[in-house]
Amino acid sequence: MAKVGVFFGTDTGNTRRVAKDITTTLGSAIAAKPVNIRNATVEDLLGFETLILGTPTYGEGQLPGLSTGNATESWEEFLPKLEGHDFTGKKVAIYGLGNQKGYPDEFVDAMFYLYDQFEQCGATLIGAWDIEGYKFQKSKAVVDDRFVGLVLDQENQKELTPTRLEIWLANLAEAWG
Ligand SMILES: Cc1cc2nc3c(=O)[nH]c(=O)nc-3n(C[C@H](O)[C@H](O)[C@H](O)COP(=O)(O)O)c2cc1C
Repeated sequence: MAKVGVFFGTDTGNTRRVAKDITTTLGSAIAAKPVNIRNATVEDLLGFETLILGTPTYGEGQLPGLSTGNATESWEEFLPKLEGHDFTGKKVAIYGLGNQKGYPDEFVDAMFYLYDQFEQCGATLIGAWDIEGYKFQKSKAVVDDRFVGLVLDQENQKELTPTRLEIWLANLAEAWG
């Protein structure tokens, strides 16, 4: 069985497309087929030793979900289900999509909520990413001067996405050995 589970939330498809690119790059021997988080259970996530989790940010710095006007349930509804579950020994890498020009004060904030919840569940967070190369005012996703995971901006820096993804996946492969 593939050792890396790839789960994403999305409303307009960008985060799903990146998830597909991730599994294509890693190959099916390493990464499982991406699953929309609205169709996943906590047990599905616990079935993997390593997780790559993708989220866009909606509303004003919020998780995607029904309260931010998304068409379906998403991370907003899933995250509370994690409470009390033990992810000790699991490695978790987060990637986030956002719009730095449109939302400079809430840029990719949703990533922080995933980071915080999985950390509380005992997971080892991997895949922090430099803030250089982005122009924004504030982001909850910056912890200790780095983003908690890979940040992609399909509205303003789409052309940088393939290279960013390639570098990040190479870094991850080193982290999970
Ligand atoms: C109504 C709305 C609110 C948004 N709010 C934020 C935000 O607070 N912060 C941010 O970085 N991006 C924000 N975005 C940008 C999205 O995160 C971005 O378009 C992302 O690529 C969408 O991903 P998806 O296609 O997977 O749904 C917002 C977009 C929309 C349409």
